[in-house]
Amino acid sequence: MKALAWHGKHDVRMDTVDDPEIVNPRDCIIKVTSTAICGSDLHLYDGYIPTMKAGDVLGHEFMGEVVEVGAKSTLKKGQRVVVPFTIACGSCYHCGKHQYSACPNGLPADNQDIAMSLYGTEMSGLFGYSHMTGGYAGGQAEYVRVPFSDVGPIVIPDGVDDDKVLFLSDILPTGWQAAEYAQIEPGDTVAVWGCGPVGLFAVQSAFLMGAERVIAIDHFPHRLELAKRFGAETINFEESATYEALMEMTGGIGPDAVIDAVGLEAHGLFVDNVIDQIKASTFLGTDRPHSIRQAIIACRKGGRVSMPAVYGGFVDKFPLGAFMEKGLTLKTGQTHVQHYMPALLNAIMEGKIDTEFLISHRMPLMDAPKGYKMFKDHQNEVTKIVLKPGMTAAA
Ligand SMILES: NC(=O)c1ccc[n+]([C@@H]2O[C@H](COP(=O)([O-])OP(=O)(O)OC[C@H]3O[C@@H](n4cnc5c(N)ncnc54)[C@H](O)[C@@H]3O)[C@@H](O)[C@H]2O)c1
Ligand SMILES: [Zn+2]
Ligand SMILES: [Zn+2]
Repeated sequence: MKALAWHGKHDVRMDTVDDPEIVNPRDCIIKVTSTAICGSDLHLYDGYIPTMKAGDVLGHEFMGEVVEVGAKSTLKKGQRVVVPFTIACGSCYHCGKHQYSACPNGLPADNQDIAMSLYGTEMSGLFGYSHMTGGYAGGQAEYVRVPFSDVGPIVIPDGVDDDKVLFLSDILPTGWQAAEYAQIEPGDTVAVWGCGPVGLFAVQSAFLMGAERVIAIDHFPHRLELAKRFGAETINFEESATYEALMEMTGGIGPDAVIDAVGLEAHGLFVDNVIDQIKASTFLGTDRPHSIRQAIIACRKGGRVSMPAVYGGFVDKFPLGAFMEKGLTLKTGQTHVQHYMPALLNAIMEGKIDTEFLISHRMPLMDAPKGYKMFKDHQNEVTKIVLKPGMTAAA
């Protein structure tokens, strides 16, 4: 089959690879009908994530048709399913608490050294996201093997278009969890750093959870426009200083809750960001955590910090004093996708959440290398690329 393989920094190719096979009775095989490129994939593309090997198949946002089932899969051939990016067993201590992204059972035992030394624990299994997370082949491919298919995939009712539900695989539940972790109370003002897919779904979710005002921050005009569409006020950080603007907009108090939906590749000519960039390029550091620093500094006393954004290693210049003195709380983590999928599918079906607004480009899977480059180089206009294995010409 054809699949998108990683070969190094800014080098992804459509390779011919072996078709996946059932290796465990709980597996199923899916014929992919739609798969998206994620902001997290850019961290791989830009070479920030360790333990990648040449030939690794990428992609963790995908859906398709079940074409083969293991003896213990609960799915049936022909069903259409969306697959969560987190691989979880459904029956361990963590899964019992619905903390699916903490499940250790999706990870083969011999790949945990780096995670143990960085995090003091093993990582969880993820599709298409390095050998530290299990080395699973991802879904930017014609076919994909899905482990624990009796737990993860959600069946999509007939007649519902792929583009409506594909984002249940990651970014919609991630934006939703981000808003939930911000513990929004009616009347709150919530500030969201980053108007990528995660930030935009966090904006929608925050309003649905009762926020009175949502302030969205980015520097790409088109992405800020999308946030406005949902009722957000906006700050373009290239036109106004974010902290000062937030203080002015909140009577000098600061937002009740702040959400960092930027992550380890923050943009902007800020002193701390430039130092982080130099450190990263000389292998003295890993992350550029400008947005979480700024979110903590801007949050009101006693407020809440939610950090869906991904960070990888150790950071400095972290405003620990401000965090303590202001009495903030912080919640973060990979999304417990399986926990949120059923309710969010209903919300989509009832028209409460708009998903399709985000898709800027639909392309054949074969154009995936071009798609990665476009997504990297033109983030203003390219908000989300959906790759379709069955498509022949871009739309
Ligand atoms: N927790 C999870 O399970 C999970 C799941 C998916 C994605 N993520 C992470 O969430 C983050 C966002 O994902 P995405 O797909 O929306 O990414 P994205 O790259 O499409 O969007 C990030 C946005 O942040 C903006 N930005 C950059 N620097 C900024 C700054 N200084 N201030 C304000 N905005 C700034 C960029 O312009 C961009 O629009 C990434 O770190 C991604 O890895 C986490
Ligand atoms: Zn993703
Ligand atoms: Zn588990």
